[in-house]
This record gives sequence, C-alpha cells and structure tokens, in this order.
Amino acid sequence: MPANHRFSRRLLLLFLLSFETARRLASGDSNDEACLTNLRQSLEDPANNLHNWTKPFFTNPCSGFSSHLHGVTCNNGRIYKLSLTNLSLRGSISPFLSNCTNLQSLDLSSNQISGEIPSEIQFLANLAVLNLSSNRLSGQISPQLALCAYLNVIDLHDNRLSGQIPQQLGLLARLSTFDVSNNKLSGQIPPNLGMRNGNLPRFNSSSFVGNKKLFGYPLEEMKSKGLSVMAIVGIGLGSGIASLVISFTGVCIWLKITERKMEEEEGKISHSMPDY
Ligand SMILES: *[C@@H]1O[C@H](CO)[C@@H](O)[C@H](O)[C@H]1NC(C)=O
Ligand SMILES: *[C@@H]1O[C@H](CO)[C@@H](O)[C@H](O)[C@H]1NC(C)=O
Ligand SMILES: *[C@@H]1O[C@H](CO)[C@@H](O)[C@H](O)[C@H]1NC(C)=O
Ligand SMILES: *[C@@H]1O[C@H](CO)[C@@H](O)[C@H](O)[C@H]1NC(C)=O
Ligand SMILES: *[C@@H]1O[C@H](CO)[C@@H](O)[C@H](O)[C@H]1NC(C)=O
Repeated sequence: MPANHRFSRRLLLLFLLSFETARRLASGDSNDEACLTNLRQSLEDPANNLHNWTKPFFTNPCSGFSSHLHGVTCNNGRIYKLSLTNLSLRGSISPFLSNCTNLQSLDLSSNQISGEIPSEIQFLANLAVLNLSSNRLSGQISPQLALCAYLNVIDLHDNRLSGQIPQQLGLLARLSTFDVSNNKLSGQIPPNLGMRNGNLPRFNSSSFVGNKKLFGYPLEEMKSKGLSVMAIVGIGLGSGIASLVISFTGVCIWLKITERKMEEEEGKISHSMPDY
C-alpha cells in the first residue's frame, strides 16, 4: 500500500512538472517578450517589413524551435538570433534589447538606425556576433562591450561613431573579426588591438581606415603623414634655396679668389718686372 501511495505521488509530481513546462513554453519567456516589445517600439519601420511583429506574437516569440516573427531565430524556447538586415529600419536600438538574455547573434546591418549603441548590450553574456554596420549610429563605443566575453565578430563599419576605440576590446580573446572602418573615431588605436600578439587573429589597416583622426599601427601615423607632406615641400624648397645660396657664394668666393690671384699675379709680375 505505501509503495502504491508513493508511486501516485510521483505521478502527480511528474504531471505538475510537465504541466509547468508546457505552460512556460506556451506563454513564452517574459524577458524575450520585453526585449521584442521594446525593440519594436524603438525602431521605425516605414517600409512595414516588420508587419507581423505585432502584439499577439510577442507573447510567445518562440513556439518550439523556430519563430514566426521575421528575423527571429529561436533555440530551446529562447531567442538566440536577431537578424534584421537591409529593411530600411530607422529609429534607435532599445536598451531593453538586453532582455534577450540568450542572444548570440545580433545583426541590424544596412539600415538607417541612429542614436547610440546601448551600453546595456554588455548584459548579453552569450553574444558572439555583433553586426551593426552601415547604419547611422553615433556616440562612443562603450568600453563595457568588452564584458561580452564570447564576442567573435564586431562589425561597426560605416556609421558615425566618435571618440576613442576602448582599449578593453583588445582583451576579447575570441575576437576574429573587427571592423570599425568609415566612422568618426579618433585617437590612438589601442596597441593590444592593433598589434595583437600570440596566436590571436590580427587586424590589418582595412579594419580602421576611413576615420580621419584615428592613428597608430596598423594605420600610418597621422602626424608623421601630415608632416611628411610638409617635409617634402620643406625639403624641396629648402634644398632649392640652399643650393642657390651655396652656388651663389661659391661663385662669389671663386670670383674673389681668382680676382685676388690675378691681383697677386699682377703684383708678382709688377714686382718681378724690372722698372724700365
Ligand atoms: C512574418 O513575415 C515574414 C517575412 O515577411 C514571413 O516569412 C513569415 O512567414 C511571417 N509570419 C507570419 C506568422 O505571418
Ligand atoms: C536591400 O534591399 C533592396 C530593396 O529591398 C534590394 O534592392 C537590395 O538588393 C538589397 N541589398 C542587399 C545587399 O541585399
Ligand atoms: C530588462 O532590461 C532592463 C534594463 O536592462 C532591466 O532593468 C529589466 O530588469 C529587464 N527585465 C525585464 C523583464 O524587463
Ligand atoms: C555585416 O553585415 C554586412 C551587411 O549585411 C555584411 O556585408 C558583412 O559581411 C557582415 N559582417 C560580418 C563580419 O559578417
Ligand atoms: C585585410 O585582411 C582581410 C582578411 O582579414 C583581407 O581580406 C584583406 O585583403 C586585408 N587587407 C589588406 C590591405 O591587407
């Protein structure tokens, strides 16, 4: 009898557990919901590409392994990839994006998204791919981005980002693609990013070009580059003038010497010549 009793209790527990799991799957994750709702609000979608990003869908963005929402990919009932590229999106990136805590890949490239990259991205602990290239993002690159320790790809090219490249990004051991070309970045490229050592993948100048005030390896030094043009002009002008002066004085000295020699010769001649 007690054995039978225990069995039925276990059955009840199992039933309750599976019911709870099913309920969770059906209702969706509240963090992912908050993430999508807020992102939809911060983005403008004039071409209506996100027409099915509507309220009823947000309540369960991941039904099973896939999502019915455009650009959303799920894994185990959580969003792991957001890819909204080339959709003429405007507006800004909501800081509540950080509520998509399982996100591994964020690609919002080739839109017209403006504003800053929210520093809250630092809370996406699993983020491996960040592609925000070809937008109108401004402000600084947050040093906290380096807290996303799994970052493989940081592609921020063709934006309006300013300020310095945070040296903390050089600490990202998994980073294999880094592109901040064509922005408004300034200052020195952090040496631990420009000159990575060991087996870490290196980044060449194409990762950094198109930032007028950015300098340091692997770019040519801005200052010496600025100087070299001046130097070439200076050396050209200077040497021209110098050679003129030198040859002029040379001629003068030669003239003086020959004059004196002639005078001396004349003198000698006049000395050696007997007076008639
Ligand atoms: C949502 O839109 C995308 C692309 O526009 C489409 O592939 C997808 O099937 C749509 N989903 C639903 C549920 O309408
Ligand atoms: C971007 O979208 C436009 C129109 O929707 C299309 O003509 C163009 O080929 C797309 N570009 C890329 C790189 O996919
Ligand atoms: C969402 O993100 C915000 C800001 O990072 C945070 O304060 C909040 O607790 C998160 N969770 C939910 C469910 O909104
Ligand atoms: C980022 O997105 C752009 C445009 O969609 C693409 O051309 C580029 O290859 C992507 N970057 C990486 C590192 O995959
Ligand atoms: C820079 O490296 C990339 C691959 O990471 C390569 O495709 C490109 O040709 C290189 N550019 C230069 C200027 O060396």
